[in-house]
Amino acid sequence: MKHLSTFLLAAAFSLSAAAEVNYQVIPLPQHINIAGSGKYLILDAGMTVAYPADNAKMQRNAEFAAEYLGLIPKPADKKGADVSLTLGMNNDNPDAYTISVTGKGITIQGASESGVFYGIQTLRKSIMNEQGEVRLPFATISAEPRFGYRGTELDCARHFFPVSFIKKFIDILALHGVNRFHWHLTDDQGWRFEVKALPELAEKASVRPHTIIGKNVGLHDPAIALYDDTPETGYYTQEEMREVVRYAAERYITVVPEIDLPGHMIAALSVYPEMGCTGGPYQVWGVWGVANDVLCAGNPKTLEFLKTVYGELCDVFPSELIHIGGDESPRVRWKACPKCQAKMKELGLTDEAQLQTYINKEMEAFLQKRGRQIIGWDETLEGGLSDKAAVMSWRGYEGGTAAAKLHHQVVMTPTSHCYFDYYQLKNRDAQPLGIGGYVPVSKVYGMEPVPEGLTKDEAKYIMGVQCNLWTEYMLSPDHVEYMLLPRLAAMSEVQWLQPEAKNYEQFLGRLENLKQNYRKLGYKYCPSTE
Ligand code: ACM
Ligand code: ZN
Repeated sequence: MKHLSTFLLAAAFSLSAAAEVNYQVIPLPQHINIAGSGKYLILDAGMTVAYPADNAKMQRNAEFAAEYLGLIPKPADKKGADVSLTLGMNNDNPDAYTISVTGKGITIQGASESGVFYGIQTLRKSIMNEQGEVRLPFATISAEPRFGYRGTELDCARHFFPVSFIKKFIDILALHGVNRFHWHLTDDQGWRFEVKALPELAEKASVRPHTIIGKNVGLHDPAIALYDDTPETGYYTQEEMREVVRYAAERYITVVPEIDLPGHMIAALSVYPEMGCTGGPYQVWGVWGVANDVLCAGNPKTLEFLKTVYGELCDVFPSELIHIGGDESPRVRWKACPKCQAKMKELGLTDEAQLQTYINKEMEAFLQKRGRQIIGWDETLEGGLSDKAAVMSWRGYEGGTAAAKLHHQVVMTPTSHCYFDYYQLKNRDAQPLGIGGYVPVSKVYGMEPVPEGLTKDEAKYIMGVQCNLWTEYMLSPDHVEYMLLPRLAAMSEVQWLQPEAKNYEQFLGRLENLKQNYRKLGYKYCPSTE
Protein backbone atom coordinates (compact mmCIF):
# COMPACT_ATOMS: atom_id res chain seq x y z
CA MET A 1 0.00 0.00 0.00
CA LYS A 2 2.77 2.36 0.94
CA HIS A 3 4.50 1.51 -2.29
CA LEU A 4 1.44 2.43 -4.33
CA SER A 5 0.89 5.79 -2.66
CA THR A 6 4.52 6.71 -3.33
CA PHE A 7 3.94 5.86 -6.97
CA LEU A 8 0.78 7.99 -7.11
CA LEU A 9 2.61 10.87 -5.54
CA ALA A 10 5.37 10.59 -8.13
CA ALA A 11 2.81 10.52 -10.94
CA ALA A 12 1.09 13.60 -9.58
CA PHE A 13 4.41 15.36 -9.29
CA SER A 14 5.41 14.61 -12.85
CA LEU A 15 2.00 15.79 -14.12
CA SER A 16 2.28 19.08 -12.33
CA ALA A 17 5.82 19.52 -13.65
CA ALA A 18 4.47 20.26 -17.12
CA ALA A 19 2.27 23.22 -18.02
CA GLU A 20 -1.01 22.46 -19.75
CA VAL A 21 -0.75 23.03 -23.50
CA ASN A 22 -3.65 22.84 -25.94
CA TYR A 23 -3.67 24.32 -29.45
CA GLN A 24 -7.48 24.30 -29.51
CA VAL A 25 -7.69 27.92 -28.49
CA ILE A 26 -10.32 30.61 -29.06
CA PRO A 27 -10.72 31.47 -31.89
CA LEU A 28 -10.20 27.89 -33.01
CA PRO A 29 -7.64 27.56 -35.84
CA GLN A 30 -9.00 25.86 -38.99
CA HIS A 31 -6.30 23.22 -39.09
CA ILE A 32 -4.44 21.63 -36.21
CA ASN A 33 -2.39 18.64 -37.24
CA ILE A 34 -0.49 17.02 -34.41
CA ALA A 35 2.56 15.41 -35.98
CA GLY A 36 3.83 12.31 -34.29
CA SER A 37 2.43 11.08 -31.04
CA GLY A 38 4.09 12.20 -27.87
CA LYS A 39 6.80 14.26 -29.55
CA TYR A 40 7.23 17.73 -28.23
CA LEU A 41 9.50 20.72 -28.13
CA ILE A 42 10.38 22.08 -24.72
CA LEU A 43 10.05 25.86 -24.56
CA ASP A 44 13.09 27.17 -22.81
CA ALA A 45 13.67 30.58 -21.25
CA GLY A 46 16.92 31.05 -23.13
CA MET A 47 15.41 30.47 -26.58
CA THR A 48 15.78 33.10 -29.25
CA VAL A 49 13.21 34.53 -31.66
CA ALA A 50 14.40 35.71 -35.08
CA TYR A 51 12.69 38.23 -37.36
CA PRO A 52 13.51 40.09 -40.60
CA ALA A 53 15.91 42.83 -39.47
CA ASP A 54 14.58 45.56 -41.73
CA ASN A 55 10.97 45.28 -40.60
CA ALA A 56 9.95 47.31 -37.54
CA LYS A 57 6.55 45.61 -37.28
CA MET A 58 8.19 42.19 -37.23
CA GLN A 59 10.61 43.43 -34.61
CA ARG A 60 7.64 44.48 -32.49
CA ASN A 61 6.05 41.09 -33.12
CA ALA A 62 9.26 39.47 -31.89
CA GLU A 63 9.12 41.59 -28.76
CA PHE A 64 5.55 40.43 -28.15
CA ALA A 65 6.61 36.81 -28.64
CA ALA A 66 9.52 37.36 -26.28
CA GLU A 67 7.25 38.90 -23.66
CA TYR A 68 4.53 36.25 -23.89
CA LEU A 69 6.73 33.20 -24.26
CA GLY A 70 9.86 34.22 -22.39
CA LEU A 71 12.19 34.40 -25.40
CA ILE A 72 15.10 36.58 -26.45
CA PRO A 73 14.60 38.64 -29.66
CA LYS A 74 17.31 38.24 -32.29
CA PRO A 75 17.25 40.21 -35.54
CA ALA A 76 17.84 38.68 -38.94
CA ASP A 77 20.16 35.77 -38.40
CA LYS A 78 17.88 32.79 -38.43
CA LYS A 79 20.69 30.34 -38.01
CA GLY A 80 20.37 28.77 -34.65
CA ALA A 81 17.22 30.72 -33.73
CA ASP A 82 14.67 28.60 -31.94
CA VAL A 83 11.63 30.56 -33.07
CA SER A 84 11.40 32.24 -36.49
CA LEU A 85 8.87 34.86 -37.45
CA THR A 86 8.51 35.13 -41.20
CA LEU A 87 6.31 36.61 -43.90
CA GLY A 88 5.40 35.22 -47.28
CA MET A 89 2.55 32.85 -46.51
CA ASN A 90 0.66 32.43 -49.75
CA ASN A 91 -2.81 33.61 -48.77
CA ASP A 92 -4.88 36.62 -49.88
CA ASN A 93 -6.11 37.14 -46.33
CA PRO A 94 -3.55 39.40 -44.63
CA ASP A 95 -4.49 38.01 -41.20
CA ALA A 96 -3.76 34.38 -42.11
CA TYR A 97 -0.97 32.50 -40.35
CA THR A 98 0.63 29.10 -39.98
CA ILE A 99 2.57 27.75 -37.03
CA SER A 100 4.88 24.83 -37.27
CA VAL A 101 6.41 23.16 -34.23
CA THR A 102 9.14 20.62 -34.93
CA GLY A 103 12.26 19.27 -33.30
CA LYS A 104 14.18 22.13 -34.89
CA GLY A 105 12.04 24.86 -33.40
CA ILE A 106 8.97 26.94 -34.14
CA THR A 107 8.13 28.91 -37.27
CA ILE A 108 5.28 31.38 -37.33
CA GLN A 109 4.58 32.56 -40.84
CA GLY A 110 2.03 35.18 -41.76
CA ALA A 111 0.46 36.42 -44.96
CA SER A 112 1.40 39.81 -43.49
CA GLU A 113 2.68 41.11 -40.16
CA SER A 114 -0.81 40.95 -38.66
CA GLY A 115 -1.00 37.23 -39.45
CA VAL A 116 2.25 36.69 -37.57
CA PHE A 117 0.79 38.59 -34.63
CA TYR A 118 -2.28 36.31 -34.56
CA GLY A 119 -0.03 33.27 -34.75
CA ILE A 120 1.85 34.52 -31.71
CA GLN A 121 -1.44 35.05 -29.88
CA THR A 122 -2.52 31.49 -30.68
CA LEU A 123 0.72 30.04 -29.40
CA ARG A 124 0.48 32.20 -26.29
CA LYS A 125 -3.08 31.08 -25.55
CA SER A 126 -2.13 27.44 -26.07
CA ILE A 127 -0.05 27.61 -22.92
CA MET A 128 -2.63 27.84 -20.23
CA ASN A 129 -0.49 28.10 -17.15
CA GLU A 130 3.09 28.37 -16.11
CA GLN A 131 3.18 25.41 -13.79
CA GLY A 132 6.36 23.77 -14.94
CA GLU A 133 7.96 22.88 -18.21
CA VAL A 134 6.15 23.98 -21.40
CA ARG A 135 6.05 21.04 -23.81
CA LEU A 136 4.74 21.99 -27.24
CA PRO A 137 3.57 18.97 -29.25
CA PHE A 138 4.97 18.83 -32.78
CA ALA A 139 2.22 20.27 -34.96
CA THR A 140 1.19 22.32 -37.94
CA ILE A 141 -1.53 24.87 -37.28
CA SER A 142 -3.15 27.34 -39.67
CA ALA A 143 -5.96 29.86 -39.55
CA GLU A 144 -7.53 32.83 -41.26
CA PRO A 145 -10.46 34.94 -40.08
CA ARG A 146 -13.85 34.92 -41.79
CA PHE A 147 -14.40 38.70 -41.55
CA GLY A 148 -12.07 41.63 -42.20
CA TYR A 149 -13.83 43.93 -39.71
CA ARG A 150 -13.85 42.42 -36.22
CA GLY A 151 -14.94 45.10 -33.83
CA THR A 152 -15.67 45.99 -30.24
CA GLU A 153 -17.17 49.30 -29.16
CA LEU A 154 -16.60 51.05 -25.84
CA ASP A 155 -18.65 54.03 -24.73
CA CYS A 156 -16.39 56.41 -22.81
CA ALA A 157 -18.95 59.23 -22.75
CA ARG A 158 -21.47 57.82 -20.26
CA HIS A 159 -18.58 56.89 -18.03
CA PHE A 160 -15.00 57.95 -18.49
CA PHE A 161 -12.22 55.39 -18.42
CA PRO A 162 -8.56 56.37 -18.10
CA VAL A 163 -6.00 55.68 -20.82
CA SER A 164 -4.39 53.00 -18.64
CA PHE A 165 -7.65 51.02 -18.85
CA ILE A 166 -8.13 51.75 -22.55
CA LYS A 167 -4.76 50.08 -23.11
CA LYS A 168 -5.77 47.06 -21.04
CA PHE A 169 -9.02 46.92 -23.01
CA ILE A 170 -7.01 46.92 -26.25
CA ASP A 171 -4.86 44.10 -24.87
CA ILE A 172 -8.03 42.09 -24.23
CA LEU A 173 -9.24 42.74 -27.78
CA ALA A 174 -5.88 41.63 -29.18
CA LEU A 175 -6.02 38.40 -27.20
CA HIS A 176 -9.32 37.64 -28.97
CA GLY A 177 -8.23 38.55 -32.51
CA VAL A 178 -10.36 41.71 -32.66
CA ASN A 179 -8.98 44.34 -35.08
CA ARG A 180 -11.26 47.38 -34.67
CA PHE A 181 -11.74 49.42 -31.51
CA HIS A 182 -14.81 51.61 -32.02
CA TRP A 183 -14.30 54.44 -29.57
CA HIS A 184 -17.53 56.28 -28.64
CA LEU A 185 -16.15 59.62 -27.52
CA THR A 186 -19.09 61.97 -27.13
CA ASP A 187 -22.68 61.84 -26.01
CA ASP A 188 -25.38 63.79 -24.19
CA GLN A 189 -23.76 62.88 -20.87
CA GLY A 190 -20.18 63.96 -21.58
CA TRP A 191 -17.73 65.13 -24.25
CA ARG A 192 -14.37 63.33 -24.03
CA PHE A 193 -12.53 64.42 -27.20
CA GLU A 194 -10.21 67.41 -26.85
CA VAL A 195 -10.76 69.93 -29.66
CA LYS A 196 -7.98 72.49 -29.53
CA ALA A 197 -9.94 75.13 -31.46
CA LEU A 198 -12.93 74.72 -29.13
CA PRO A 199 -11.46 74.39 -25.63
CA GLU A 200 -14.84 74.69 -23.88
CA LEU A 201 -15.68 71.15 -25.01
CA ALA A 202 -12.90 69.57 -22.96
CA GLU A 203 -13.07 72.07 -20.14
CA LYS A 204 -16.82 72.23 -19.59
CA ALA A 205 -18.75 69.77 -21.77
CA SER A 206 -16.77 66.91 -20.23
CA VAL A 207 -18.23 67.66 -16.79
CA ARG A 208 -21.48 66.02 -15.71
CA PRO A 209 -22.33 67.52 -12.34
CA HIS A 210 -24.51 64.63 -11.23
CA THR A 211 -26.09 61.41 -12.45
CA ILE A 212 -29.48 59.90 -11.88
CA ILE A 213 -29.48 57.08 -9.34
CA GLY A 214 -30.46 53.62 -10.55
CA LYS A 215 -32.94 53.20 -13.38
CA ASN A 216 -34.43 56.38 -14.75
CA VAL A 217 -37.28 54.97 -16.78
CA GLY A 218 -40.07 57.51 -16.59
CA LEU A 219 -38.01 59.85 -14.47
CA HIS A 220 -36.87 62.31 -17.12
CA ASP A 221 -38.59 65.08 -15.23
CA PRO A 222 -35.68 66.70 -13.38
CA ALA A 223 -38.05 67.71 -10.61
CA ILE A 224 -38.66 64.12 -9.53
CA ALA A 225 -35.39 62.45 -10.52
CA LEU A 226 -33.00 61.43 -7.75
CA TYR A 227 -29.40 62.34 -8.48
CA ASP A 228 -26.12 61.41 -6.88
CA ASP A 229 -23.71 64.21 -6.04
CA THR A 230 -20.65 62.72 -7.71
CA PRO A 231 -19.50 64.61 -10.79
CA GLU A 232 -18.39 62.45 -13.73
CA THR A 233 -15.56 64.16 -15.54
CA GLY A 234 -12.67 63.46 -17.85
CA TYR A 235 -11.52 63.83 -21.42
CA TYR A 236 -8.71 62.53 -23.57
CA THR A 237 -6.04 64.95 -24.73
CA GLN A 238 -5.01 64.65 -28.35
CA GLU A 239 -1.62 63.45 -27.18
CA GLU A 240 -3.26 60.67 -25.15
CA MET A 241 -5.46 59.62 -28.05
CA ARG A 242 -2.46 59.50 -30.39
CA GLU A 243 -0.77 57.25 -27.87
CA VAL A 244 -3.86 54.98 -27.84
CA VAL A 245 -3.81 54.89 -31.66
CA ARG A 246 -0.13 53.93 -31.61
CA TYR A 247 -0.64 51.30 -28.90
CA ALA A 248 -3.58 49.78 -30.77
CA ALA A 249 -1.75 49.80 -34.13
CA GLU A 250 1.09 47.75 -32.67
CA ARG A 251 -1.57 45.17 -31.90
CA TYR A 252 -3.14 45.42 -35.39
CA ILE A 253 -6.15 47.25 -34.08
CA THR A 254 -7.51 50.30 -35.87
CA VAL A 255 -9.23 52.83 -33.64
CA VAL A 256 -12.49 53.93 -35.30
CA PRO A 257 -13.56 57.11 -33.50
CA GLU A 258 -17.18 58.15 -33.19
CA ILE A 259 -18.51 61.65 -32.72
CA ASP A 260 -22.26 61.10 -32.64
CA LEU A 261 -24.30 63.61 -34.68
CA PRO A 262 -26.81 65.27 -34.93
CA GLY A 263 -28.36 63.74 -31.79
CA HIS A 264 -26.57 62.73 -28.59
CA MET A 265 -25.11 66.26 -28.60
CA ILE A 266 -26.39 67.88 -25.41
CA ALA A 267 -22.92 68.04 -23.87
CA ALA A 268 -21.77 70.15 -26.84
CA LEU A 269 -24.97 72.20 -26.74
CA SER A 270 -24.31 73.00 -23.07
CA VAL A 271 -21.35 75.13 -24.19
CA TYR A 272 -22.68 76.22 -27.60
CA PRO A 273 -26.45 76.65 -27.02
CA GLU A 274 -26.85 78.64 -30.23
CA MET A 275 -26.40 75.35 -32.14
CA GLY A 276 -29.66 74.00 -30.71
CA CYS A 277 -33.01 74.77 -32.34
CA THR A 278 -34.39 76.41 -29.17
CA GLY A 279 -31.19 78.13 -28.09
CA GLY A 280 -31.23 76.40 -24.72
CA PRO A 281 -29.98 76.72 -22.06
CA TYR A 282 -28.76 73.13 -21.92
CA GLN A 283 -26.90 71.19 -19.25
CA VAL A 284 -24.74 68.09 -19.68
CA TRP A 285 -27.39 65.41 -19.24
CA GLY A 286 -27.56 63.56 -15.94
CA VAL A 287 -30.19 61.06 -17.13
CA TRP A 288 -30.12 58.24 -19.70
CA GLY A 289 -32.18 57.79 -22.82
CA VAL A 290 -32.96 59.69 -26.00
CA ALA A 291 -33.04 63.48 -25.88
CA ASN A 292 -35.23 65.62 -28.12
CA ASP A 293 -32.62 68.36 -28.24
CA VAL A 294 -30.23 67.84 -31.16
CA LEU A 295 -28.05 70.03 -33.37
CA CYS A 296 -29.98 72.58 -35.42
CA ALA A 297 -29.70 71.56 -39.06
CA GLY A 298 -30.63 75.01 -40.32
CA ASN A 299 -27.93 76.93 -38.48
CA PRO A 300 -24.76 77.39 -40.60
CA LYS A 301 -22.77 77.38 -37.36
CA THR A 302 -23.60 73.71 -36.92
CA LEU A 303 -21.67 72.59 -39.99
CA GLU A 304 -18.86 74.98 -39.19
CA PHE A 305 -18.64 73.40 -35.73
CA LEU A 306 -18.76 69.85 -37.08
CA LYS A 307 -16.02 70.51 -39.62
CA THR A 308 -13.76 71.94 -36.93
CA VAL A 309 -14.39 68.91 -34.71
CA TYR A 310 -14.01 66.27 -37.43
CA GLY A 311 -10.99 68.09 -38.87
CA GLU A 312 -9.19 67.61 -35.56
CA LEU A 313 -10.58 64.08 -35.29
CA CYS A 314 -8.88 63.24 -38.61
CA ASP A 315 -5.64 64.79 -37.35
CA VAL A 316 -5.64 62.39 -34.39
CA PHE A 317 -7.11 59.21 -35.90
CA PRO A 318 -5.72 57.75 -39.13
CA SER A 319 -8.65 55.31 -39.53
CA GLU A 320 -10.21 55.36 -42.99
CA LEU A 321 -13.61 54.75 -41.39
CA ILE A 322 -14.93 57.65 -39.33
CA HIS A 323 -18.12 57.04 -37.34
CA ILE A 324 -20.65 59.88 -37.51
CA GLY A 325 -23.25 58.26 -35.25
CA GLY A 326 -26.69 59.23 -36.54
CA ASP A 327 -28.73 57.12 -34.12
CA GLU A 328 -31.65 58.17 -31.94
CA SER A 329 -31.99 61.71 -33.24
CA PRO A 330 -35.63 62.78 -32.86
CA ARG A 331 -36.85 65.32 -35.39
CA VAL A 332 -39.38 67.15 -33.21
CA ARG A 333 -37.20 70.22 -32.74
CA TRP A 334 -36.49 70.39 -36.48
CA LYS A 335 -40.21 70.30 -37.24
CA ALA A 336 -40.79 73.36 -35.04
CA CYS A 337 -37.62 75.30 -35.89
CA PRO A 338 -37.86 78.17 -38.42
CA LYS A 339 -34.18 77.77 -39.39
CA CYS A 340 -34.54 74.03 -40.02
CA GLN A 341 -37.76 74.53 -41.97
CA ALA A 342 -36.15 77.28 -44.09
CA LYS A 343 -33.24 74.95 -44.84
CA MET A 344 -35.65 72.22 -45.96
CA LYS A 345 -37.38 74.69 -48.27
CA GLU A 346 -34.09 75.92 -49.68
CA LEU A 347 -33.00 72.32 -50.43
CA GLY A 348 -36.43 71.18 -51.61
CA LEU A 349 -36.66 68.49 -48.93
CA THR A 350 -40.00 66.93 -48.11
CA ASP A 351 -39.28 65.31 -44.77
CA GLU A 352 -37.01 65.93 -41.79
CA ALA A 353 -35.18 62.63 -42.23
CA GLN A 354 -33.72 64.10 -45.41
CA LEU A 355 -32.33 66.95 -43.34
CA GLN A 356 -30.18 64.42 -41.51
CA THR A 357 -29.03 63.04 -44.87
CA TYR A 358 -28.14 66.60 -45.90
CA ILE A 359 -25.78 66.87 -42.88
CA ASN A 360 -24.36 63.40 -43.56
CA LYS A 361 -23.64 64.32 -47.18
CA GLU A 362 -21.89 67.50 -46.13
CA MET A 363 -19.78 65.54 -43.67
CA GLU A 364 -19.11 62.79 -46.17
CA ALA A 365 -17.80 65.32 -48.73
CA PHE A 366 -15.67 66.97 -46.06
CA LEU A 367 -14.20 63.67 -44.90
CA GLN A 368 -13.74 62.27 -48.40
CA LYS A 369 -11.36 65.16 -49.11
CA ARG A 370 -9.23 63.73 -46.33
CA GLY A 371 -9.43 60.24 -47.73
CA ARG A 372 -11.96 59.03 -45.17
CA GLN A 373 -15.20 57.10 -45.41
CA ILE A 374 -18.16 57.66 -43.12
CA ILE A 375 -19.99 54.95 -41.21
CA GLY A 376 -23.22 55.57 -39.30
CA TRP A 377 -25.89 53.74 -37.30
CA ASP A 378 -28.76 52.31 -39.32
CA GLU A 379 -31.00 55.36 -38.82
CA THR A 380 -28.82 56.98 -41.51
CA LEU A 381 -30.77 54.92 -44.05
CA GLU A 382 -34.00 56.75 -43.26
CA GLY A 383 -33.47 59.91 -45.30
CA GLY A 384 -31.41 58.09 -47.95
CA LEU A 385 -27.79 57.04 -47.57
CA SER A 386 -25.09 59.37 -48.78
CA ASP A 387 -22.77 58.23 -51.55
CA LYS A 388 -20.42 55.71 -49.95
CA ALA A 389 -21.62 55.62 -46.35
CA ALA A 390 -21.17 52.34 -44.51
CA VAL A 391 -23.90 51.24 -42.11
CA MET A 392 -23.74 49.79 -38.62
CA SER A 393 -26.88 47.70 -38.18
CA TRP A 394 -27.95 47.77 -34.53
CA ARG A 395 -31.78 47.71 -34.45
CA GLY A 396 -31.82 44.15 -35.76
CA TYR A 397 -30.73 42.78 -39.12
CA GLU A 398 -33.03 44.93 -41.29
CA GLY A 399 -30.79 47.97 -41.67
CA GLY A 400 -27.82 45.82 -42.60
CA THR A 401 -29.88 43.84 -45.09
CA ALA A 402 -31.22 46.99 -46.75
CA ALA A 403 -27.77 48.60 -46.92
CA ALA A 404 -26.14 45.47 -48.39
CA LYS A 405 -28.87 45.34 -51.05
CA LEU A 406 -27.96 48.95 -51.90
CA HIS A 407 -24.30 47.84 -52.14
CA HIS A 408 -23.16 49.77 -49.09
CA GLN A 409 -20.71 48.21 -46.68
CA VAL A 410 -22.17 46.91 -43.44
CA VAL A 411 -21.06 46.03 -39.92
CA MET A 412 -23.59 43.85 -38.12
CA THR A 413 -24.15 44.62 -34.45
CA PRO A 414 -27.79 43.83 -33.66
CA THR A 415 -28.96 44.29 -30.06
CA SER A 416 -30.18 40.67 -30.06
CA HIS A 417 -26.64 39.22 -30.10
CA CYS A 418 -24.14 42.04 -29.81
CA TYR A 419 -25.24 44.31 -26.97
CA PHE A 420 -22.91 43.43 -24.13
CA ASP A 421 -24.51 46.06 -21.91
CA TYR A 422 -27.44 43.63 -21.67
CA TYR A 423 -27.50 41.07 -18.87
CA GLN A 424 -25.66 37.82 -19.47
CA LEU A 425 -27.43 35.72 -16.83
CA LYS A 426 -31.16 35.12 -16.37
CA ASN A 427 -31.01 35.79 -12.67
CA ARG A 428 -30.63 39.55 -12.45
CA ASP A 429 -29.81 39.41 -8.76
CA ALA A 430 -26.66 37.46 -9.61
CA GLN A 431 -25.23 40.35 -11.63
CA PRO A 432 -24.55 44.04 -11.11
CA LEU A 433 -27.31 46.45 -12.19
CA GLY A 434 -27.55 46.56 -15.99
CA ILE A 435 -29.59 48.29 -18.64
CA GLY A 436 -31.86 45.28 -19.22
CA GLY A 437 -32.17 42.65 -21.96
CA TYR A 438 -30.58 39.21 -21.98
CA VAL A 439 -27.66 38.25 -24.20
CA PRO A 440 -26.03 35.14 -22.76
CA VAL A 441 -22.82 33.64 -24.13
CA SER A 442 -24.78 30.96 -26.02
CA LYS A 443 -26.80 33.63 -27.83
CA VAL A 444 -23.65 35.48 -28.88
CA TYR A 445 -22.10 32.23 -30.08
CA GLY A 446 -25.16 31.36 -32.14
CA MET A 447 -25.05 34.57 -34.14
CA GLU A 448 -24.86 34.38 -37.92
CA PRO A 449 -23.80 37.84 -39.12
CA VAL A 450 -24.80 37.46 -42.76
CA PRO A 451 -28.56 38.11 -42.98
CA GLU A 452 -30.77 35.63 -44.80
CA GLY A 453 -32.11 36.71 -48.14
CA LEU A 454 -28.96 38.29 -49.51
CA THR A 455 -27.49 37.09 -52.77
CA LYS A 456 -23.88 35.92 -52.74
CA ASP A 457 -22.83 39.24 -54.22
CA GLU A 458 -24.83 41.25 -51.67
CA ALA A 459 -23.43 39.15 -48.80
CA LYS A 460 -19.96 40.43 -49.67
CA TYR A 461 -21.00 43.83 -48.33
CA ILE A 462 -21.17 42.40 -44.80
CA MET A 463 -17.64 43.38 -43.91
CA GLY A 464 -17.87 42.27 -40.33
CA VAL A 465 -19.43 42.14 -36.92
CA GLN A 466 -18.98 43.94 -33.64
CA CYS A 467 -20.08 43.85 -30.02
CA ASN A 468 -20.92 47.00 -28.08
CA LEU A 469 -20.38 48.13 -24.52
CA TRP A 470 -22.60 51.07 -23.63
CA THR A 471 -21.61 52.15 -20.18
CA GLU A 472 -24.59 53.86 -18.55
CA TYR A 473 -24.42 51.26 -15.77
CA MET A 474 -20.73 50.40 -15.92
CA LEU A 475 -18.94 52.66 -13.50
CA SER A 476 -15.64 50.83 -13.21
CA PRO A 477 -13.11 49.06 -15.44
CA ASP A 478 -13.79 45.84 -13.50
CA HIS A 479 -17.45 46.02 -14.45
CA VAL A 480 -16.58 46.63 -18.12
CA GLU A 481 -14.35 43.53 -18.09
CA TYR A 482 -17.09 41.50 -16.42
CA MET A 483 -19.59 42.50 -19.13
CA LEU A 484 -17.08 41.86 -21.91
CA LEU A 485 -15.76 38.48 -20.76
CA PRO A 486 -16.36 35.78 -21.61
CA ARG A 487 -18.88 37.00 -24.20
CA LEU A 488 -16.03 38.39 -26.30
CA ALA A 489 -14.71 34.84 -26.60
CA ALA A 490 -17.98 33.82 -28.27
CA MET A 491 -17.89 36.93 -30.47
CA SER A 492 -14.32 36.11 -31.43
CA GLU A 493 -15.44 32.79 -32.94
CA VAL A 494 -18.33 34.54 -34.72
CA GLN A 495 -15.76 36.91 -36.20
CA TRP A 496 -13.15 34.27 -37.10
CA LEU A 497 -14.87 30.96 -37.82
CA GLN A 498 -16.84 29.76 -40.82
CA PRO A 499 -20.36 28.76 -39.67
CA GLU A 500 -19.73 25.03 -40.19
CA ALA A 501 -16.68 25.12 -37.91
CA LYS A 502 -18.63 26.42 -34.92
CA ASN A 503 -19.59 23.99 -32.16
CA TYR A 504 -20.95 25.39 -28.91
CA GLU A 505 -20.25 22.36 -26.71
CA GLN A 506 -16.64 22.22 -27.85
CA PHE A 507 -16.38 25.99 -27.50
CA LEU A 508 -17.33 25.68 -23.82
CA GLY A 509 -14.41 23.30 -23.35
CA ARG A 510 -12.03 25.71 -25.05
CA LEU A 511 -13.46 28.51 -22.93
CA GLU A 512 -12.33 26.78 -19.73
CA ASN A 513 -8.81 26.87 -21.17
CA LEU A 514 -9.10 30.52 -22.12
CA LYS A 515 -10.28 31.34 -18.61
CA GLN A 516 -6.95 30.06 -17.34
CA ASN A 517 -5.37 32.77 -19.48
CA TYR A 518 -7.82 35.34 -18.11
CA ARG A 519 -6.79 34.42 -14.58
CA LYS A 520 -3.12 34.53 -15.48
CA LEU A 521 -3.60 38.00 -16.95
CA GLY A 522 -5.81 39.30 -14.14
CA TYR A 523 -8.92 39.85 -16.30
CA LYS A 524 -12.33 39.93 -14.62
CA TYR A 525 -14.99 37.74 -16.18
CA CYS A 526 -18.46 36.45 -15.49
CA PRO A 527 -17.83 33.01 -14.00
CA SER A 528 -20.93 31.26 -15.32
CA THR A 529 -22.20 30.86 -18.85
CA GLU A 530 -25.76 30.38 -20.06
C1 ACM B 1 -27.35 52.73 -30.20
O1 ACM B 1 -27.33 51.75 -29.44
N1 ACM B 1 -28.07 53.79 -29.91
C2 ACM B 1 -26.57 52.73 -31.43
ZN1 ZN C 1 -33.19 73.99 -36.05
